Amino acid sequence: MKKGFVFDLDGVITDTAKFHYTAWRNLAASLDITIDEAFNETLKGISRMDSLDRILLYGHKEKDYTAAEKTRLAEQKNDEYVKLLANLTEADLLPGVHDFLVQTKAHSIPCALASASKNAPMILQKLGVLDYFAHIVDPESLKKGKPDPEIFIKAAESIHIAPEEAIGFEDAQAGIAGIKAAGMYAVGISATEKLAGADLQVASMTDVTVEQLLKV
Ligand code: BG6
Ligand code: MG
Repeated sequence: MKKGFVFDLDGVITDTAKFHYTAWRNLAASLDITIDEAFNETLKGISRMDSLDRILLYGHKEKDYTAAEKTRLAEQKNDEYVKLLANLTEADLLPGVHDFLVQTKAHSIPCALASASKNAPMILQKLGVLDYFAHIVDPESLKKGKPDPEIFIKAAESIHIAPEEAIGFEDAQAGIAGIKAAGMYAVGISATEKLAGADLQVASMTDVTVEQLLKV
């Protein structure tokens, strides 16, 4: 019997990838680097600074900036990203998410958030679902990002369950890899991409119920 749920944020609870893309594309353009949507796919689940490093590498400019300059560039990207989130509301929850969270509360099943995003608490607040989460893992506390299992192991610990008792939800391949490496059951959410290693893949959260998953 499973005892808790661990959620990724971007692509599972809400679709903020388009805002990350706009902000990174504009920052990259200001550095004379052109990125497209296919490249943006490779940034999903990757931390802010690692994303900047990947963009600089892609533009062959990885040696052009000091650590302090890179911090400033990452802040610049985040300032634009946060502005793009200004109008985020409950209507921006992905299909089935609100219903599923209501079911977790009805069954008294704890939920934790395992997102690389430092903006996660603010985003959950704007979406009106902050109260459904017993804990949000602080990405600053991590030694390694996804696909390392650290964030998922910390998330399970935070809700006082063993990883084998947890179910993780992810839309990105790096996330599925991390959930499996943590020893959890992985639910992949994607209507377009085959997520290798997922124990179950669905197109959206409308395709799963708490009752069904607790029994897997
Ligand atoms: C992940 C996104 O959820 O968070 C990445 O998929 C993003 O694209 C990462 O870079 C870090 O987000 P933030 O909000 O801390 O810049
Ligand atoms: Mg994601």
